[in-house]
Amino acid sequence: MPEMLRFERVFFHYRKDRPVLRDLSFTIGRGEFVSIVGGNGSGKSTLARLIDGLLQPRGGSVCMNGLDPADPAQVRQVRETAGLVFQNPDDQFITTTVTDEIVFGLENIRVPRSEMGGRIDEALRLVRLEGYADSAPHELSGGQKQRAAIAAVLAMRPKLVVFDEATSMLDPRGRADMMELMRELSRRGMTIVQITHHMEEVMESGRVLLLDQGRIAFDGDPGLFFQKADLERYALDKPFGARVHDKLGLRGAPAADWKKSVKAQWPI
Ligand SMILES: Nc1ncnc2c1ncn2[C@@H]1O[C@H](COP(=O)(O)OP(=O)(O)OP(=O)(O)O)[C@@H](O)[C@H]1O
Ligand SMILES: [Mg+2]
Repeated sequence: MPEMLRFERVFFHYRKDRPVLRDLSFTIGRGEFVSIVGGNGSGKSTLARLIDGLLQPRGGSVCMNGLDPADPAQVRQVRETAGLVFQNPDDQFITTTVTDEIVFGLENIRVPRSEMGGRIDEALRLVRLEGYADSAPHELSGGQKQRAAIAAVLAMRPKLVVFDEATSMLDPRGRADMMELMRELSRRGMTIVQITHHMEEVMESGRVLLLDQGRIAFDGDPGLFFQKADLERYALDKPFGARVHDKLGLRGAPAADWKKSVKAQWPI
């Protein structure tokens, strides 16, 4: 699988006496759907911000689709290639209408005006916000605002999208819609990195990376992860289906069965 993202011996701190990422190395292939999990403060959002150059490594390097996000000369191309979606849609809206929000992003990467209309329509269709092009942020629900923020990201036609707890403020319906969107983007070949505390969402991905104190404590198949990892130690929950199995005394049930039972009740 061709490479999309590589962290090579990355170190990062905000304050010298408090290292956040410590010698972090991993590679994500093009088209992979990866979950990043870990307790509060384990460095997940910091990792996300290193991907698109909002932060720069103190040591080591990040390579994103052949680009160096720490190089100011490459940052425009980096932002075009990697999109970030954050937790709170209110913090992401900077303009006054959905269309302006998308246009703002497109102007930043210098998309010609003639191309914008097509891209705006395509992005709104993907997030199912057709008919909301002229809406103001206060006219949208939280879920719709989040989808508008995502439309602005998708209009740039990124190759990689990082969702940093993008579903955490949504209701179950909104979360299910968001997971469906991630699956659709993944089907289209986009590389998806989702940072989440919801273990059901982890089951949707093909691989899970567990961050602990700025290092990778697990990297592999989600089924194996829920079977093998000491989740309590990392302040993580089990997916709903696995908890049911435990309660029913089915400890040791194969991971594939957990996955099936999780899929059966998610999403509805
Ligand atoms: N802007 C900042 N200035 C100083 N310290 C920060 C800043 N942002 C984060 N930190 C610290 O860096 C560490 C990692 O934070 P980060 O936000 O990356 O964690 P996280 O894994 O995303 O946590 P959460 O699950 O709560 O979102 C924490 O100890 C946090 O206090
Ligand atoms: Mg975070």
